[in-house]
Amino acid sequence: MLPVRICSNASRHVGCKVAPLTRRALPIASKYPFQKPTSCDQPKRSLSTSTTPPTHPEVIFSGIQPTGVPHLGNYLGALKQWVDLQNLAPPSTELLYCVVDLHAITQPQDPNDLRRRRQDTMAMLLAVGLKTERCVIFEQSRVAAHSQLMWVLSTLAPTNLLARQTQWKSKLAESEDRSPLDPDGSSKLKLGLFSYPVLQAADILLYGTTLVPVGEDQVQHLELARSLAGKFNRTFGKILVVPKVKLAPAKRVMSLTNPTSKMSKSGAVNSQINLDHSESEIRLRIRGALTDSIPGISYDREARPGVSNLVEMIGNMTNRDDFEVIARECEGLGMKEFKDRVADSVVEGLKGIKEEYERIKGDAGYLEEISRIGAEKANRKANETLGKVMEAMGMGVNPAPSSS
Ligand code: AMP
Ligand code: TRP
Repeated sequence: MLPVRICSNASRHVGCKVAPLTRRALPIASKYPFQKPTSCDQPKRSLSTSTTPPTHPEVIFSGIQPTGVPHLGNYLGALKQWVDLQNLAPPSTELLYCVVDLHAITQPQDPNDLRRRRQDTMAMLLAVGLKTERCVIFEQSRVAAHSQLMWVLSTLAPTNLLARQTQWKSKLAESEDRSPLDPDGSSKLKLGLFSYPVLQAADILLYGTTLVPVGEDQVQHLELARSLAGKFNRTFGKILVVPKVKLAPAKRVMSLTNPTSKMSKSGAVNSQINLDHSESEIRLRIRGALTDSIPGISYDREARPGVSNLVEMIGNMTNRDDFEVIARECEGLGMKEFKDRVADSVVEGLKGIKEEYERIKGDAGYLEEISRIGAEKANRKANETLGKVMEAMGMGVNPAPSSS
């Protein structure tokens, strides 16, 4: 068993005392639903959104694909807020974080690479500060109920809604752009990719999830999950919980080399900062970020996408959302000094993650054990919901595993 690391970063610090949970009526919870903790360093933005106490404990669920080392967009859009939620949530809140390998295979994956990436992604979830004592951390393919509920939900999912999903439409456009000399184009569009959001709905609905922390690119998928839950409940009885979206303050981190498109794992090499990059690599990539020739530093996402993306990076790494103020603080800096300041906050905000990741990822036995325990807990809860769903529809239920 690996020794527990003492975390140097307050935003990843665990063990805070927390105040009661608050909740909003709106489906999108734009800020933290929890009150500030009283015993650790505070983010500067306000955390509470309402004073109405919840009637039920929250269940938080989110997922990440094991398709490569997570980048700064994954961190700021998802992982950082997973950890913040873990650290701020009262003990009654359940947290489940899933490595969604069944989603990853909607794009071709080499089996050996996928095996390694699943393990690496588990290691990264621990390295950023998630704690197995507090969260259920597991791999989707170890919980058969995800695929089973997906099938059930697919019988309720209108194909016209699926055809309107941005992710599907962009793959469709890519295939239509292919030359007639590449007849393989449309045959690359698989049913699994089309039904991807139905599997995502199953992930969420199996656990009675109330809150799903994700980046902005996932909002449309979440709307579909909400709509499928509503449809199921109206048809078969109120069994599924309709979840709310919890957008990260960093909704959309943009590519360093093409700041009008989002940072993505499939982007150009220098377009991302990965969580396993060394300090010098991070500095080099930020120094190479595409900006503009307008003198001075200012914040204007439309007119200055590159500079504004970097201003947002400073804000998001330091828990601030007053981007105009940050830009004014940097006003007098030359572009090189400004980029150095951006790099300072990114390096500081990611401090310790790379080292922790390298330390954990080589320990296959430890990671296997974490995955096994996580899957056991997830299976228990998922099978309960699946049983209710199947029963309500007049179908057979999975037999409970024998205790012998
Ligand atoms: P994925 O790597 O596609 O599984 O994404 C995992 C999580 O990271 C999801 O919640 C995404 O919304 C979030 N995410 C991915 N890229 C970005 C980005 N460039 N900016 C903000 N969030 C992102
Ligand atoms: N589709 C999400 C992404 O690409 C990953 C995902 C799968 C997910 N299932 C989920 C996110 C359930 C939140 C909840 O990022």
